[in-house]
Amino acid sequence: MNDCKAKTWPSPALSPRQQQLLEAMACHLDDETSLVSLAADFEAQGDYPHAPHCYSRSILYRHPEGAEIMVARWDVGARTPTHGHPQYAFVMVLQGCLQMEHFTDTPNGLHLTETLVKHTGEHIYAAGREGCYDNAIHRVTALQPSLSLHIYSDDALKGICFD
Ligand SMILES: [Fe+2]
Repeated sequence: MNDCKAKTWPSPALSPRQQQLLEAMACHLDDETSLVSLAADFEAQGDYPHAPHCYSRSILYRHPEGAEIMVARWDVGARTPTHGHPQYAFVMVLQGCLQMEHFTDTPNGLHLTETLVKHTGEHIYAAGREGCYDNAIHRVTALQPSLSLHIYSDDALKGICFD
């Protein structure tokens, strides 16, 4: 596995229909069912940068009040640091396969609670505390070359990093 520091890129060109989808996603951060439905209509095709042994982050949408939508393109074996998220976090695998190790934060440190393997079309969703960045603490590893859609209620890089 390759721990890496991902670079962030601007969005590739998107159709008006895709832009409308992103705006709708940003309006339904607290509604998992709507996010699943909207994400299913998102087109996975796009020119997302390949990052050898790592993953790239392409920011598709930022709302003035904080919502952020991005696509990550993963090389096989790429692994994120262990990190938390803003209040609302939704991740859907568009292509490939991602392993997600989830943790709880305790006075004695992080404890692994579950290891999930998510395939194309599968997602995670987590709602945490407003104004905090310790929601859904996890570490993601790409088991295949993958593409994933991420919808957050704030800049994902504000998520607490535990490594
Ligand atoms: Fe994450």
